[in-house]
Amino acid sequence: MAVKNGQTRVRTADERRSEIQATAQEMGIDDAFIDTLVDAFYSKIRDHSVLGPIFNEKIGEKWDVHLARMKDFWASVALNAGRYSGRPVPKHAALTNVEPHHFQIWLGLFYETLKETASSPQTVSYFMVRAERIADSLKLAMFGLPGLPLERPGAPPQQD
Ligand code: HEM
Repeated sequence: MAVKNGQTRVRTADERRSEIQATAQEMGIDDAFIDTLVDAFYSKIRDHSVLGPIFNEKIGEKWDVHLARMKDFWASVALNAGRYSGRPVPKHAALTNVEPHHFQIWLGLFYETLKETASSPQTVSYFMVRAERIADSLKLAMFGLPGLPLERPGAPPQQD
């Protein structure tokens, strides 16, 4: 919402994009920083004893493609760059060897990378808030709410 002449109104998409870009710019978040962050993060992921094999099994020889996609993804999330048009939910839902606690490891490595690469605590929070929000929605799509059965179209009814 924006307030003008005492009246509130919904911001346009262009206004929202400009605001996000201005905030990110003030914090020094740009494509160069996103390149560094993504390269450093996935280098940790590939070396990790639990997450490394999960990623390597799926990505195989195509790490260049994955890294380029992830840079577009983070530029779209953090800078509203509009360069990413994939669908992360079905991609993650297809990963049958991922468990809920793997997300904690993922977020821990992302936090560690941000602390090593970001120039300010504000930048660390800016990315962590977004990563946690997306991780929550991926987890919800993959595992459902605790205690509630997952609805999978075409799946047989769950047995107790
Ligand atoms: C335990 C946690 C996670 C695991 C094991 C995981 C694993 C993977 C793997 C293996 C792929 C490649 C899929 C493919 O090419 O078919 C992928 C893609 C991707 N991941 Fe994750 N991921 C995790 C968490 C996250 C989180 C928290 C985010 C966002 C904050 C994220 C964002 C993405 C995106 C945007 C893609 C690209 C999807 C596309 O092809 O468009 N992932 N992930």
